[in-house]
Amino acid sequence: MPAQIATATPVAHAALLGLGVYRPRRVVPNAEIVDRIDSSDEWIRTRSGIEARHWADADETIVSMSTAAARDALEAAGVTAQQIDAVVLATSSQMVLGPSAGAVVATELGMHDTAAFDVSAGCAGFCYALANAANLVRAGQARHVLVIGVERLSDLLDQDDRTCAFIFADGAGAVVVGAAEEEGIGPVAWGSDGSQTAAIKQDKDFQQYFAEVAEAEATGGHAERPYIRMNGAAVFRWAVTFLEKACRDALDQAGVTVEDLDAFVPHQANGRITDALLRALHMPESIAVARDIAQTGNTSAASIPMAMEQLLRSGESKPGDTALLLGFGAGLAYAGQVVRLPAIS
Ligand code: UT7
Repeated sequence: MPAQIATATPVAHAALLGLGVYRPRRVVPNAEIVDRIDSSDEWIRTRSGIEARHWADADETIVSMSTAAARDALEAAGVTAQQIDAVVLATSSQMVLGPSAGAVVATELGMHDTAAFDVSAGCAGFCYALANAANLVRAGQARHVLVIGVERLSDLLDQDDRTCAFIFADGAGAVVVGAAEEEGIGPVAWGSDGSQTAAIKQDKDFQQYFAEVAEAEATGGHAERPYIRMNGAAVFRWAVTFLEKACRDALDQAGVTVEDLDAFVPHQANGRITDALLRALHMPESIAVARDIAQTGNTSAASIPMAMEQLLRSGESKPGDTALLLGFGAGLAYAGQVVRLPAIS
């Protein structure tokens, strides 16, 4: 008889225990970027809802921004770094392929021998990471998990690209996930569609770029580095037609109706996408709606924790409120879940 393999001891419920964010020091108003993309403050505000964004300085790295956000999340949760059993970090703009940023952040926070890994799911990254963290806790594989969403998208921006230069931005958000007496993180509704890869993508891979550099060196030409590119209209169309179903799926799985919600925290992609989802879902006007995009821009995997923090900091929402989160973007990938909002420090 082969030896029986034991399973970890599961716990019934997981919840968001604390939240922290890092907003880069440098604020970039629309006025600073409009000339290079032949745009206007008014066009950007009305078409996207963005008034300003934060772009990181050299010392505000993926690791340093994550570490700062994580410290605040730990403090808000009343949990020490030593109590964290796993770090799950979502990003699409870490320029180092190895080691994982999560492992470096864990060490920066003073953790030893802690499981750590990165998740790449574009702007859905935070909700993907959160789903995995909640399942690790419920399965009894980790007592506490630190989930981080972080981006330095300014590194991937072609400053002359009219579609992307005004949208994408930098920042970090982190939450601590742990066991709870009642459920605080509903089942995830998620998916992806690789057939729509062209809608948002890095325009060339590094092998192509190196080949172009070699050719440029041989011919005296110029090699353009890889940038993020987006077919804005295609993504917009997908978001306003497909994502209503994702929201309804997350609500149904959690056994919650739109009327039960206190807050809606969609990925901060475009204020008009948020408005379209509010209409499609017939959300009551009493629901607090995250509008962090106005001052923060689109920070991809960081946008949902940053937007949650803005709602809590402003007093529009309070810890314990029931919120629907929805991440969506490159992949095209999406993930959403109903949560109870955490404490902030
Ligand atoms: O986070 C990942 C997920 N990303 C998203 O969800 C982003 C989704 N897409 C969007 O948010 C929108 O598509 C954008 C904000 C990127 C663009 O807004 P749009 O309303 O879809 O603009 P468009 O590309 O359809 O262009 C409309 C017009 C065009 O002019 P004509 O042909 O109507 O004369 C464009 O040339 O606006 C023009 N235009 C601009 N004008 C000033 C396009 N970009 C700009 C610009 N400034 N930056």
